[in-house]
Formats: sequence, structure tokens, C-alpha cells
Amino acid sequence: MEDIMLISLTPAFDPVLLDGMLRFQTLAYILAALLFILALAGLSRQKTAQRGNTLGIIGMALALIATVVVAVAQSEVTAAVTVGLMIVAIAIGACIGVWKALRVKMTGMPELVAMLHSFVGAAAVLVGFNSFLMDPGNGTYDNAFHMGEVGLAVFIGAVTLTGSIVAYLKLSAKMSGKPLTLPGRNIINLIMVIVSILLIAWFVNTLGVDAGLLPLVLLTIVSLVLGAHLVLAIGGGDMPVVVSMLNSYSGWAAAMAGFTLGNDLLIITGALVGSSGAYLSWIMCQGMNRSFVSVILGGFGGDSSTPAGGSSGAVSGDYTEVTPEEVAEQLKSAKRVVIAPGYGMAVAQAQYPVADLTRKLIDRGVDVKFAIHPVAGRMPGHMNVLLAEAKVPYDNVYEMDEVNDDFGDVDVVLVVGANDTVNPSAETDPGSPIAGMPVMRVWDAGTVVVSKRSMGNAGYAGVQNPLFFNENTEMLLGDAKDSVDAIIAAL
Ligand code: TAP
Repeated sequence: MEDIMLISLTPAFDPVLLDGMLRFQTLAYILAALLFILALAGLSRQKTAQRGNTLGIIGMALALIATVVVAVAQSEVTAAVTVGLMIVAIAIGACIGVWKALRVKMTGMPELVAMLHSFVGAAAVLVGFNSFLMDPGNGTYDNAFHMGEVGLAVFIGAVTLTGSIVAYLKLSAKMSGKPLTLPGRNIINLIMVIVSILLIAWFVNTLGVDAGLLPLVLLTIVSLVLGAHLVLAIGGGDMPVVVSMLNSYSGWAAAMAGFTLGNDLLIITGALVGSSGAYLSWIMCQGMNRSFVSVILGGFGGDSSTPAGGSSGAVSGDYTEVTPEEVAEQLKSAKRVVIAPGYGMAVAQAQYPVADLTRKLIDRGVDVKFAIHPVAGRMPGHMNVLLAEAKVPYDNVYEMDEVNDDFGDVDVVLVVGANDTVNPSAETDPGSPIAGMPVMRVWDAGTVVVSKRSMGNAGYAGVQNPLFFNENTEMLLGDAKDSVDAIIAAL
């Protein structure tokens, strides 16, 4: 019987081969880590983004091969069973991933991303529990570290899990975007964090599975509630920052899972995701004039209580309507044109006619630039991706800061489905929910043409836009794609 046990527990490969495979894995992991860093560097610029993506794919393939090979070699069951189990797990994940990716619209990407983050959180919790059950507390110094890592992985993973689920529900409008502002919510969060730390300390000092399970389960419950409460307290207007912040949390959760699994590559990858997500959140906070700390702590001390969809400073008045033919005439005679795209361009999928219009104007000798606000659309880089997809030359695409002082020299600004990002009340009305948010000063241009479907709908922040009632603003009402198509036809 003992012999049978020994045989079935013997690794599938002989020790020398296994040693070689482990060396191969270390080398592959180092290479993959380098490729991931190069991928991130490449993704930071549009011109090198494709190369960055390719490097990331190669790195991931390398890491996957090394992991599978060593997992098979170290497996205590036959190679066929290990490979079979992995194929089943990968197939289930791939089916869900492909099904979701095929159905998602470009405008629904943020909620898909939020949902994917919840999987990372769930994985970190499961890895933490598994790691604890395999190696529970035994009172040694080494083991205390391991238990601490498990506690942190479960804590961050559970916060990410429920935080991401709430973000998904809010973004997909399955739940109200209004912030839940319980009295003393910051104190509640603080108490939950302190309780979590105490539970981790208790957990680290337990011996055996039975003793450790109670604090670990309690820690999981408190962290799950904390994650949900943190995101529930955040208003719809801050959701983009929350998604990127959860991206960061999911990275740290993966890094913690890497510690518990003793997997260096997972630690490096998690740290890359965690730090780049945090940096992105910071950039977005600047773009929306939100306090980073306030958003991270679930509205702590900040005014994230302003719901998206609320209303402030209702502006009404006379506005001037314009036809596509008239816009075509203005564009023909313009020397400098700036196109300011926003969420509406994504909804209408107007990037293709917009790119076509750009080419036609450039051919006529018009200087055409795109002005991209950091939070235009619904996710970081949303507009850049759409414009790249429609093959707009990178050289014509400018960040807001690069063109914001030059609108005075522009003859015509064509605002395609942008609203909050071109709302002057951010600068002029301190009571506005978007007060202080940097905006594109399109009103300085000679003429501003705004393409939107109706005068009734506000932008994401739910506030009316006084720009529409300016003397030099003309409203081109209708679906952006139809409107731009009509301008092209008239040209
Ligand atoms: P928004 O303020 O959301 O305004 C969108 C505009 O597009 C509205 O005027 C809307 O008016 C128009 N529109 C919608 N569908 C259209 C269509 N088919 N054809 C023509 N127009 C259409 O857009 P924005 O200026 O891009 O600002 C983005 C906002 O989203 C900011 O408040 C930002 O904070 C927030 N946000 C950003 C992100 C990131 S990271 N980018 C993520 C989530 C939220 P009609 O309905 O009348 O057409």
C-alpha cells in the first residue's frame, strides 16, 4: 500500500529533468517580466502601442508555457490528468471570456473591465484559502510570514471582489449610480480596516487549520463588506477612477497571491498592474479635478456625493441650429479646424466618418487637429483607441493641454458628442458638480459646432452646458454619424 502511495505521488519526471525544467521556468519568468515592462513602456505611446501589445503577448505565452511545463512535471498525478484538468479550467475561462468579449459594446468596456477585476479578486481569495489549507499555522517564523501573506491576499482580494461587483452593477445601470452616504461612513471604513488588521494578527498567531479558519472566514466577511461599502459610497461621476483604482487593487491582490504561491512572476506582474493602475487613477483624478485620496477612500472628505445624473445650474435660452450643409461651407473656408470628440462619438460609432472628414479637409489644405480630453468618453484612452481604429494619423491627435491655449486661433471647432469636457461652467460656476475639472476652452474659437442628438440630454455629470447657448455656438442636432456623413456629402 505504501509502495502504491509512493508511486502515485512520484513526480512524472526524474529529478534531473525536473531541475532543468525549474531552471527553464526561472529564465522564462525573468524574460517574461522584462517583456511585460517593455510592453508597458510601449503602451505608453500610440506609435509604439502595437509593439508593446505584441511584447506583452509573447511574455504571457512564455510565462504560460513555463508554468504549464513545470506544473505537469511537478504534478503528483499523471501528466495526462494534470493537462486535462488545466485544459478544462482554461476552456471554461476562455468560453466565458470570448462570450463576454463578443457581446460587449465599446461603450460597455468599463463594466466588462470591472467584472474581470472581480475575478482577480476572487482568485486571490481562493488562492489564499488554498494556501492556508495546504500549509496552516505551525508557529515557526517562516510560517508566520506565509500566514501574513495569506491574510493580506484574502483581504485585498475580497475588497477587490465586492468592490468590482458593485462597480460593475453601477456602471451597467443595474444599480443606482447614487453614492450611499451612510452617516459616519468614513469611521465605518476605518473600523473595518482596523478589525481586518486585528483579524490578520489573530490569524497569523493560530496553529492548525481549525484554529485559523475562524479568523480567516471573519476576515473574508469584513473585507467583502468593506469592498462593497467603499464603492457604494462613490458617486457615478467618480466611477472611471474607481475602475482604474480597482484595477490597481486587483494587481496588488495578484501580487499577494504570488507571495502565497511563491511565484516571482506573479509578484512582478501584480506589482506592475498595481502601480500602473494607481498611477492611472492619479492621472484621471487630475483630469476630473478629484482628490485622489478622497476617491480611494470612498469619498473621504471629498464631494463625491454629487450624483451623475443630478442637475445643477439649469441653463436654458436661445440656441442656434445649423444644417450639415452650412457646417460643410464653414469647414471649407476654415484654415484651422479642431475636432473635440467625446462619448457621443463612441455611441454613434462616428469615428469612421470623422476620420473620412479629416482626410477630406486635410486634402483641401485645412489644418485639422483632434483635441483629446483625458477623461473624454468612458475609459482612459477611449477616444485615442477609436481614432486609431479609424486610422486617424497620430500626428493630428493632441492632448488637451497641448491645444487648450490655442483655441483663440482656431476658426471652427467641431464638438462630436462631447459635453462635460467642453463645459465652461467647470471654470465659471463654483457650485457646479464639475467645478474645477479641467475643460477644453473650445468657446475661444471663432465658431463652435456641437453635434448631439437633442437639447434635452445632459452629459455624464448630468449638468446643462452653457456653451450651447453662446453666440458663437451652433447646434448640429442628430446622431453624430448621420451628421458627419451629411457634412461629408455636402463637402
Ligand atoms: P459626456 O459628457 O458624457 O456627453 C456625451 C454627449 O454625447 C452628450 O452631449 C450626448 O448628448 C451626446 N451623444 C450621445 N449619443 C450621441 C449620438 N449618438 N450622436 C451624437 N451625440 C451623442 O461626454 P464627454 O464630454 O466625453 O465627457 C465624458 C464624461 O464621462 C465626463 O464627465 C467624465 O468624467 C465621465 N467619464 C469618463 C470616463 C473616462 S475614464 N473617460 C469614464 C466614465 C465617465 P445627446 O444625448 O443629446 O446626444
